[in-house]
Amino acid sequence: MNLLEIKGLKSGYGKALILHDVSIEVEEGGFTAIIGPNGAGKTTLLRSVYGIADLYGGTVSFRGEDITKLSPASISMKGVNYVPQDNSIFSSLTVLENLRIGATVIAGKGRSIEERLDGIYIRFPRLKDRRNQLGGTLSGGERQMLAISCALMTDPDLILLDEPSAGLQPTLVQGLFEEIKRIYDEGKTILIVEQNAKMALEYARKGYVLEGGRIKLQDEAKKLLATDEVINHYLAV
Ligand SMILES: Nc1ncnc2c1ncn2[C@@H]1O[C@H](COP(=O)(O)OP(=O)(O)O)[C@@H](O)[C@H]1O
Ligand SMILES: [Mg+2]
Repeated sequence: MNLLEIKGLKSGYGKALILHDVSIEVEEGGFTAIIGPNGAGKTTLLRSVYGIADLYGGTVSFRGEDITKLSPASISMKGVNYVPQDNSIFSSLTVLENLRIGATVIAGKGRSIEERLDGIYIRFPRLKDRRNQLGGTLSGGERQMLAISCALMTDPDLILLDEPSAGLQPTLVQGLFEEIKRIYDEGKTILIVEQNAKMALEYARKGYVLEGGRIKLQDEAKKLLATDEVINHYLAV
């Protein structure tokens, strides 16, 4: 079953139409990567799913329900969360305060906040050690861990990850993808957009290539990695 289905999506900002007829299917329990160059519309795509872009056509469905017109808060309540590109945490708040804010939207539903925090601290003991430290004092890798953890605080079924490797030291990128894989192995569905095509397609099961706001290719991630167009345009350094 598809957890997320995007059909014929047309979206953008104001008068700027960025995505043209984009259709994407994300299987429940799957790991799907969308790769593409800077400016392709990857961020716009995730924003469209999460209710923060202007939609001009098409539909976004989650568990078969049309969520096209819902607010981000309502979409979170349904079980989707979004980790924006770049530094999305609060630098002037502590790690613990960031995590508590992450859980605001689902407060009172399911597990208690304390139980969720315990889960995060087991996953990332470093965040527990630094829970009283300000977000701004964390390293790049730790900030990304915190950003992902803030999304996990809502216990989402689907996590939208916007270029988590951007701005990270190259030596930390593999470790980050291992953490994402661990989250996936625990049963979360992952939709990631990345300029780091090699890493994203190595970890994902299914891949799409987005260029100029249109889907150019789609296949099993392993097959895309072996496709000439992907090798020549996205893997050549
Ligand atoms: N808030 C905005 N208003 C108008 N145009 C935007 C806005 N954000 C992004 N764009 C434009 O949308 C296009 C796609 O951007 P984006 O989705 O960020 O691409 P990517 O994430 O693949 O780099 C770019 O041409 C960019 O300039
Ligand atoms: Mg982007």
